[in-house]
Amino acid sequence: MALIAPSLLAADFLNLERDCQMVNESEADWFHLDVMDGLFVPNISFGLPVIEAIKRCATKTLDVHLMIEKPERYIKDFKAAGADVLTVHYEASTHLHRSLQAIKAEGMQAGVALNPHSSIELLKDTIQDIDLVCLMSVNPGFGGQSFIERTYDKIRSLKALISETGSATLIEIDGGVNSTNAPKLIEAGADVLVAGSFVFRSENPANTIRDLKKF
Ligand code: DX5
Ligand code: ZN
Repeated sequence: MALIAPSLLAADFLNLERDCQMVNESEADWFHLDVMDGLFVPNISFGLPVIEAIKRCATKTLDVHLMIEKPERYIKDFKAAGADVLTVHYEASTHLHRSLQAIKAEGMQAGVALNPHSSIELLKDTIQDIDLVCLMSVNPGFGGQSFIERTYDKIRSLKALISETGSATLIEIDGGVNSTNAPKLIEAGADVLVAGSFVFRSENPANTIRDLKKF
């Protein structure tokens, strides 16, 4: 059974409180919050004030995924806004090791996201410092894209690296997750599944979360 983290990028922003309550009352484990800067990714989503507002309503872990250039500039701000897990992109942080230490120094769990083109090998020297690896199973920037099948092999390589090094790192999968690929992702070694459009575009989001939780 994996942790389920609905992505609020697919929520109804005009009814954010209602959608937050739905996640609170559902079997979901975390809130996944996607921050985009229009530079690292072509899209702009939401930032600190929206996360602060969600924090006031959310009763579960806030998993904040930063798709921004030089994320180290904002580590303290995201802590203040309420982040519990803070994930930076490997491709966006030049001094990744320093960023991870800074995130932990603020008392947050430190995550690293890898774009589909980035190899697992790149994490060989930092894996023991990483609480969560977010494997992107779409190119970051937008919800509703289709899942990249190569992700299964990447999960298996990452799982092997984690066991070889005796790390306690969680594997999170982000992008195009649905009830068809979820069981296969979990079988390959995924610990956390992010799901945006599959949850929020469904007729009954709470039931969809419950179905994902069954695998
Ligand atoms: C994509 C984001 C994802 C997105 C997932 O850049 O990081 O978290 O919200 O959305 P779906 O599940 O619709 O692919
Ligand atoms: Zn995300």
